[in-house]
Amino acid sequence: MHPDLQKVLVSPEAIESRIRALGQAITKAYGDCEELTLIAIINGAVPFTADLMRRIQCPLRFDCMRVASYLDSDSPQQEPEIVDMLRLDLKDRHVLIIDDILDTGHTMARVRKEIQRLKPASLRFCVLLEKTGRREVALKPDFVGFSIPDEFVVGYGLDFAERYRELPCIGVLKPECQNPPMWQ
Ligand code: IMP
Ligand code: MG
Repeated sequence: MHPDLQKVLVSPEAIESRIRALGQAITKAYGDCEELTLIAIINGAVPFTADLMRRIQCPLRFDCMRVASYLDSDSPQQEPEIVDMLRLDLKDRHVLIIDDILDTGHTMARVRKEIQRLKPASLRFCVLLEKTGRREVALKPDFVGFSIPDEFVVGYGLDFAERYRELPCIGVLKPECQNPPMWQ
């Protein structure tokens, strides 16, 4: 286990087998559509999307969106900002958004608003993790990897200050490692 982790919540083996099942569920849900458009919310969804897309047995198109959330409590509460928008045309397309974690729901709500304006044929959400206790926006993902308790987790794409994304498991970060000055 990485020394900065307090505990491992989800092992690499559990991630792999859950992704296989998610791939099957998504394939079943979209089996009849001609082509599915996957949209990954970067950076966090990168490892998850890379593994999941190879478990989906439908023809795919792929694009990314970058969203900046202002989680810093010193700054005023702001709507998350789309800092990098898609290039693909989504009109009348079946769209599946993929993100690492659904927490308050503000990020997904912002993405939903933006994508709905492009008039897709359908719009669904897939998240690797969800923290159900902290939702501030009514939003229910269509596909969920794991529901986790309200603890700060890193690994398999999830970061603290852009660190730990490369860890193969998902684990709870030690409180003493959540202190930004140590990174300066
Ligand atoms: P939201 O609160 O649903 O808008 O989630 C915003 C973003 O917060 C997610 O996309 C993650 O990047 C980040 N986030 C929320 N909880 C965690 C966590 O436990 N670890 C790492 N990032 C998190
Ligand atoms: Mg993120």
